[in-house]
Amino acid sequence: NNYALIMAGGIGSRFWPVSRAEFPKQFIDFFGVGKTLIQSTYDRFLQICPPENIFIITNEIYVDIIKKQLPNLGHHQILAEPVMRNTAPCIAYGSMKIAKLNPNAVIVVAPSDHTIGNQEGFVEAINQSIEAASHNKCLVTLGIKPNRPDTGYGYIQYADDVLNTDPSIHKVKTFTEKPNLELAKSFLQSGDFLWNAGIFIWSAKAINKAFEKHLPEMHEIFQQGNSFYNTTNEVAFIANAYLQCTNISIDFAIMEKADNVYVLPSDFGWSDLGTWASIYEMAEKDYVGNAVIPSEQVMMYDSSNCMVNVPKNKLVILQGLHNYIVAESNNILLICPRSEEQNVKNITADVKANF
Ligand code: GDD
Ligand code: MG
Repeated sequence: NNYALIMAGGIGSRFWPVSRAEFPKQFIDFFGVGKTLIQSTYDRFLQICPPENIFIITNEIYVDIIKKQLPNLGHHQILAEPVMRNTAPCIAYGSMKIAKLNPNAVIVVAPSDHTIGNQEGFVEAINQSIEAASHNKCLVTLGIKPNRPDTGYGYIQYADDVLNTDPSIHKVKTFTEKPNLELAKSFLQSGDFLWNAGIFIWSAKAINKAFEKHLPEMHEIFQQGNSFYNTTNEVAFIANAYLQCTNISIDFAIMEKADNVYVLPSDFGWSDLGTWASIYEMAEKDYVGNAVIPSEQVMMYDSSNCMVNVPKNKLVILQGLHNYIVAESNNILLICPRSEEQNVKNITADVKANF
């Protein structure tokens, strides 16, 4: 009964120019390991469910890239969205389609663009959550111990209460998606908050109920598709359904509101690779702190703590450069102090408007 729904429709704008709307970060091999992030994600799920139970949901513009990167997927295992509406519609569609295939399905919803250091630890945590979600009508999420007041994450405050069937899974008191800096700082200080890893485990029945309760219009929209899912009319139905959907994430729409959310505190070397800083943190560095991908074609003199990510065929020379990001892809070159990388998002908008 185990299913995976891998979300791969985001555009990863913070990694610009290496990650572009036409070719976002889930399709990139950031660390030069020979596998892109989505390929690694898929491989992890092969240890959790049968290959025919793995579904990828993405924007229709990425379907060809996915077919190329994951050639073992059947055509019907790629769910194409006609427009971007964030993760709530994506999960509503995916879960209802899976529920029609198997009403007793337990679904693991996962992002396609994270890295996991400890594979066994990951599989163990997922299996434990699947067990919990199959015996309880609850929404399980994985919680990561925070180490900085990052405002890009959901914050989970957990209670002492635990699941009857599993004392390591705690009831969630509050879920706060992307708090402001002040709030994030106070969460970090209080010590009883975890980051939401963005990986959710629930039965098809439980998530369906949650949509019915907290997002009834969207529930209604996708419920109407029930006779079309897994038939030749599905695409036409979805094209129309998405136009009626509000743009909202699962975190704001359901996780902040539901009262049956549980968290499994986890530690499996998770990184959401949300920023250049996180790539820098994970990447191998030389003795003066330079992380260079790929390393063969970059020459550095009196330079330290730089994050360099450039095309393989480019010779790059750094002299006297410290604490900078140097990133190039498709003839766009970005040079930016590491401390100012949050501005990249705005730069991208300007570039789009002017070039
Ligand atoms: N199919 C589809 N359609 N996928 C999408 C869409 C969409 O419209 N929008 C985003 N995704 C995919 C992204 O590719 C990514 O794999 C995943 O869904 C999560 O979306 P993000 O846009 O990366 O979310 P986030 O990182 O800002 O926040 C989420 O993840 C954090 C942890 O990484 C939230 O769940 C936070 O609470 C969480 O802390
Ligand atoms: Mg993300």
